[in-house]
Amino acid sequence: MNVFVTRIIPDIGLEILRDNFNVSINPEDRPIARSKLIDLASDSDGILCLLTDRIDGEIMDLIPDLKGIANYAVGFDNIDIDDATRRGIPVSNTPGVLTDATAELAIALIFAAARRIVEADVFMRGGTWSGWGPMQFLGADIAGATLGVIGMGKIGYAVAKRAKGLGMRIVYFDTQRNEDAEKEFSAEMMTIPELLSSADFVTLHIPLFEKTRHLIGKAELEMMKPTAFLINTSRGPVVDEAALAKALKEKKIAGAGLDVYEFEPKVTKELLALKNVVLLPHIGSATTVTRGKMAVMAAENLVSMLKGGDIPNLVNPDYIKYKK
Ligand code: GLV
Ligand code: GLV
Repeated sequence: MNVFVTRIIPDIGLEILRDNFNVSINPEDRPIARSKLIDLASDSDGILCLLTDRIDGEIMDLIPDLKGIANYAVGFDNIDIDDATRRGIPVSNTPGVLTDATAELAIALIFAAARRIVEADVFMRGGTWSGWGPMQFLGADIAGATLGVIGMGKIGYAVAKRAKGLGMRIVYFDTQRNEDAEKEFSAEMMTIPELLSSADFVTLHIPLFEKTRHLIGKAELEMMKPTAFLINTSRGPVVDEAALAKALKEKKIAGAGLDVYEFEPKVTKELLALKNVVLLPHIGSATTVTRGKMAVMAAENLVSMLKGGDIPNLVNPDYIKYKK
C-alpha cells in the first residue's frame, strides 16, 4: 500500500511507515501546495498530513483509494471531519504526547510577557544599556496573580498545575466541570465574562470550531483588566486578531503572548510594531522528543487504519457507519 507524507517529519515515525508501506514524502521542507498534494498523493491509500494542510472533501475525492488520514497535531481543524466521516475515512490526531511541551510554552509566554523578556533582550543587543535602574523594564508579578484558563482539558490542566506551583490562583471556564482541577489546584469555575474580568493572565486551551471562532473579540478584550495579559497557544482564529492588535495598541490590556495566528503564516501587521506582545512561530509542540513522539503516534495510527485493528487516536468513530 502507498502512503504519502506531506512534509519531512522525524525519522523515527518514517521508519515505522517504511516497515509497512511504500512511502513517498514531499521533498520540500515547506507547506505543500494544494495542487502538488493532489498530484503526489493521487495513488495513496493513506496520508500523514500536518496542520498546515487543508484536507477537505474535494481532496479526498481526488485520492480515490484513500483509507486513512493521520494528522500530525492534536488539533484537527485543518481537516473537514464530516467530509471524511461521510466517505468512510478514519482520521486520527496526536493527543497527550504534546501536552507538557505546549503547557511549558504557555508558561514561557506568561513569563516572557509579564517580565518583558524579549523586549529587554532586544534592548541589550542595542548596546545602549547604561546600568541597573530602579525604573527599568518594570513588569508584572506572577506569584499571587490570578490565571484564567479557558478550556480545562489536558493542556489547560497541565498549565494550571504549573501555575499552581508558581503561587497563582486558578480560575477556569469550560463547558464541563473539572473536579480534578478544583480538588488539586482549588480552581474556581467561572463564566467567561467573570473570568475575563478577574484574571491577570488569560490563557486559551480550546480547539477551533465554529463555536470558538472569535471567542475572544472586542467585547471580551474590553472585559479584561487593563493590567491583564492574553496568552494564546491554541488556534489563532479563536481570537479576533485585529481587535487584539487594537486593544494592545490602545493599552486596553497590558500585553499578550501569541504562538498562533488567525491567518497563519500571516501576522496582523500592527502586531509586529508593538512592544507589548511576544510573537512566536507556532512552536507549542516543538521539542525534539515531543515531535518524535508525535511522529511515532501518527505513523502507528496510519498503520492501524490501513492494516486493521483498533485505531488508537481516532477522532471520527462514526466513519465506520460509512465504510465501504
Ligand atoms: C499544534 O498546534 C497541534 O495541534 O498539535
Ligand atoms: C537587584 O539586583 C537587587 O540586588 O536587588
